[in-house]
Amino acid sequence: MNINYNEETKIFQINTQNTTYMMGILAGKHLLHLYYGKKIDYMEDMDCRYLFRKDESPKSLHSLKRAAVTFFNTYPFEYPAHGTGDCRHNCLRVRSEGGHRVCELHYDSHRIYKGKPSLKGMPATFEGATEEQAAETLEITMKDAVLGLKILLRYSVFEDSDAMIRSVVAVNEGEGKLYLEKILSAGLDMDNMEYELTTLHGVETRERRMVTRKVTEGSHRVASLYGETSHKQHPFMMLTGKGTTQKHGDAYGMHFVYSGNFAAETELNHQDSIRMTMGINPDGFEWVLAPGEEFETPEAVLVYSSEGIGKMTRCYHDLYRNHLIRSKYLHKKRPILINNWEGTYFNFDDDKLVAIAKEAKKVGIEMLVMDDGWFGKRDNDESGLGDWVVNKKKLKNGIEGLAERVNAEGMKFGIWFEPEMISPDSDLFRAHPDWAIQVPGREITMQRHQYVLDMTRQDVRDYIYESMAKILRSANIEYVKWDMNRPLADIGSFCLDSEHMGEFYHRYVLGVYELQERLVQEFPDLLLENCSGGGGRFDPGMLYYSPQIWTSDNMDPIERLAIQEGTALIYPLSTMGAHICVCPNHTTGRSTPLETRAHVAMTGTFGYELDITKLTEEEKAQAAAFNEEYHKYNEIYREGDYYRIASYRENNIYDCWQVVTKDKAECLVTYVQVRYISRTKSVRLLLEGLEPKAKYRLEGTEEIYSGELLMNAGYLQDMIFGEYGSRLLHFVRV
Ligand code: DGJ
Repeated sequence: MNINYNEETKIFQINTQNTTYMMGILAGKHLLHLYYGKKIDYMEDMDCRYLFRKDESPKSLHSLKRAAVTFFNTYPFEYPAHGTGDCRHNCLRVRSEGGHRVCELHYDSHRIYKGKPSLKGMPATFEGATEEQAAETLEITMKDAVLGLKILLRYSVFEDSDAMIRSVVAVNEGEGKLYLEKILSAGLDMDNMEYELTTLHGVETRERRMVTRKVTEGSHRVASLYGETSHKQHPFMMLTGKGTTQKHGDAYGMHFVYSGNFAAETELNHQDSIRMTMGINPDGFEWVLAPGEEFETPEAVLVYSSEGIGKMTRCYHDLYRNHLIRSKYLHKKRPILINNWEGTYFNFDDDKLVAIAKEAKKVGIEMLVMDDGWFGKRDNDESGLGDWVVNKKKLKNGIEGLAERVNAEGMKFGIWFEPEMISPDSDLFRAHPDWAIQVPGREITMQRHQYVLDMTRQDVRDYIYESMAKILRSANIEYVKWDMNRPLADIGSFCLDSEHMGEFYHRYVLGVYELQERLVQEFPDLLLENCSGGGGRFDPGMLYYSPQIWTSDNMDPIERLAIQEGTALIYPLSTMGAHICVCPNHTTGRSTPLETRAHVAMTGTFGYELDITKLTEEEKAQAAAFNEEYHKYNEIYREGDYYRIASYRENNIYDCWQVVTKDKAECLVTYVQVRYISRTKSVRLLLEGLEPKAKYRLEGTEEIYSGELLMNAGYLQDMIFGEYGSRLLHFVRV
C-alpha cells in the first residue's frame, strides 16, 4: 500500500495490494479521475499525463475559458459539483444566501499521512492493531473561493486490503451561511466498457435479492427514503465487465457505511462514460453550514477486483471483519439461541419461557431470547411501545426473576427492544405526545399501530436510553435484539426550526448511532443484534455497533437461499442472523426437512425460532446433533473465505456455497437442492480456494481428492431424490 503524488505530472496514485487509483490536477485546478483498476506499480519515470486526454475535447486548454461548459460536461471529475456546466448527475450542490446554486471546486492543497480519521458520531472503518492492518490517508483540499467553501476529499487504504474508503468534509470558511443540498461521499467516473450493474432489492421477507442488468444510457438509481436502509433497495452497486464471473473478470463495488436515507446512482452519459455516485439521499436533505461550521459525510467503500466477483466479496468480508466490526464477539462462537417470537408471538409468560429454556438446554441450546411482548401493555402490536417497564402479568417476578430462572436452567438470557418507537396507546405518548415525529396540523401516519420517536431530540434519547439501561442493569441480560418496525414519515420535530428541518433525517440517524454507542460503551459484554422488521437494517453502519444483524423474518430455507446469497455478496457470514424455523414455515407455508433448515441457518449465526417443547423426540435428537455440528464448524464459517459455487437463483435447481479456512486446511460445502431433475448425471461442484497439490479427505468417507481435482474436475454430488434436500460436506487436508 502506498500513496504518491508526482509534483511534475500533478498525478496522485493510490495503491493497494492489487489495485491502483489515479487522479490528476489539470490546469492547476481541476481534479480529474484518471484510472481505477488493476495495480500499476508506481514508476517515477512514467509520464501518465496522457490520461488527462487534454488534446481531445475541448481541443486545447487555452480555449478552456471559452469552452468551459463543454469542458465541464465532458471531463471525468473526481468530485463533480452542480452549477458550472457539468450537467451529468453530481456529488455536490450548495446554495448560497443569495439563492445561487453554483459551485466550482479548485484544487488547493493535499496531505498524505499515516493512519485514518474516524468520523464524529458515525461508524467508520479503523486501523487494526498490527502493522498489516495499518492505514494511510490522502486528503485533498478543494476550494470554491466565491462561496468560501472548503471541501476535503479523503481516501484511506489499508495494508491488508484492496478496499478504498472515501469520505468528504465541507467547511464554511466564508462569511455567509451555506446550504448543503447534496453532499455525497464518493463519485467515480469511468469509460464505459459494456458493464453490467448489480444491485440488491427486495421487501420484508425477500431482502437483498441480486438484480443484474446491462448499463444502458441514462441513470440507474437505488435509494431509500424510509429513514433507514430498508428492505427495498440497498446502498450497494457493483459494475462487472463483460463475461465477469465469480472467478474471472472485473468487478467494481461501492458500498455505503450508513443506516439512513441513501442514494446510489450509475449514469451512462453522452460521452459513453459512466458516473457512479453514493451518499446520503439529497431528497429531503438540507444541511445549514454557518460560518466556521463543518459537515462530515459517512464513508463509502470502494473495492475493485480483477479476479471476478468472488474476490470482491472476500475483500468486503475481510474489510468488515478486520476494520469495521468492533464487538468482542466478532471472533467468538455466538451462543446458540432460541427466540420465542414464532414459537409464542405475544402469548407467553415466565413459566412458558422457562419451559422452553429447560427443553432447549437438553439439546444443547445456550441462550433464551425473549422477543416482543414483555413490557407495558403489550398483548398484541397495538400498544405499549415506549413503556419499557416489565409487564408483571406475564413476568411475575420481573425481568430479574425470569433471568434468574433461565440462568438456573443453565441458559443465558437475552431480550428484545424497539427503542425508536412509541405506540399512541402508551403511557409515554400520553405523557409526551410531542415526542413522536409529526407535522403540526397533520394526522400522524400510522404503521403497525405505531409512531416513531423523535430521535433528533436529546431529551428523548436520554429518556429511552435510561429506560433501557435500567432494565439491562437490573438483571443478567447478555443479548439485546434492537428492532425497528416501521419507516419514518411526517418529518417534523418540535426542536428544529424551519431552517434546520431539512437536517432531520440525518440527525435521526446520528441519534440512533449515539444511543447504540452509549449502549455498547456501558455494556461492553452485551451481544447486540440489530433488526428491522426482518432485514431492513442490514447495513455496514450497523455492523460498527452489532456484530450480527437479523437477515430476514423469512426463515424458509429455500427462500433464504437468494436472501443469503445477496447478503453474503458483501457481508461476512458471521454477521447474518439465521435461525431454524418452525415447520410448515410461517411466511411461506412450506415444509422442509429439519436438516435443510439447519444447514442454511448454520451458515450464519445459528439458532432456533420455534417452540421446542412441541418438537418430537426424533426432531430434538436431530437438533442436538446440529448443535454439535455448529460447535464443530462455526469457526470455519465465521473466519473462513467464502466462495459462491452455484446459485439456485440462476440455475433454478440447486444452490451451493463453500467456506475455506484461511490456511486452506479445511472446507465446508453446503449443497441445497430445491428440485429433483430426473436425469442420471450427478451435479459437478467446482470447488475453489484449495491448495492444488494438497490432498483432502471427505469426512465420514475414505474418499481422497487433491485440491486440483476438486477445483478442476470437481466433486460429483448425486442428485437428492425428492425436494429440498441438502448436504454438508467437510473436506479435511490429509
Ligand atoms: C420484527 C422482527 O423481525 C421479528 O423477528 C420480531 O422481533 C418482531 N418484529 C416482533 O415484533
